[in-house]
Amino acid sequence: MASERTFLAIKPDGVQRGLVGEILSRFEKKGFKLVALKQLTPTKALAEQHYGVHKDRPFFSGLVDFITSGPVVAMVWEGDGVIASARKVIGATKPLEADPGTIRGDLAVNIGRNVIHGSDSQETAHFEIGLWFQPSEINEWSPSDQNWRVEM
Ligand code: RTP
Ligand code: MG
Repeated sequence: MASERTFLAIKPDGVQRGLVGEILSRFEKKGFKLVALKQLTPTKALAEQHYGVHKDRPFFSGLVDFITSGPVVAMVWEGDGVIASARKVIGATKPLEADPGTIRGDLAVNIGRNVIHGSDSQETAHFEIGLWFQPSEINEWSPSDQNWRVEM
């Protein structure tokens, strides 16, 4: 499995509910590497681009209003298979259908307040990382305990 990067964002509900530490901890403990992190309140233009694939859906304007309503913690995580694995850690879009043990399964009840976003493919990860981060904001580093997680 090749090392790859994904874009994750804790949505305003997750930040307002004080879940940032809990969520970061799950990805750290899994063994993924955090290479970029910032907090911002997204502009409408950023939110519309980010969720552009849903622009014709009935929930689009409510989704944009929600994601621009407060602070978002935007992140890039790196690791073997991190795109699909992070989606598993996050759980199903509808929190009531998300398995216990997943972030949405454990921490949310409503589809419109499902706490976290994760890229769903290599193509969207590449697009979203470029949309939310400048290349200079992404930090290359080597965890000192890497050989205890990955066979070198
Ligand atoms: P996300 O993009 O936020 O990680 O969520 P996702 O891939 O699991 O789900 P997606 O289909 O991309 O939908 C994006 C967000 O739109 C809201 N949504 N509402 N009311 C509805 O039927 C509906 N469908 C989707 C959710 O907040 C979802 O996370
Ligand atoms: Mg999505």
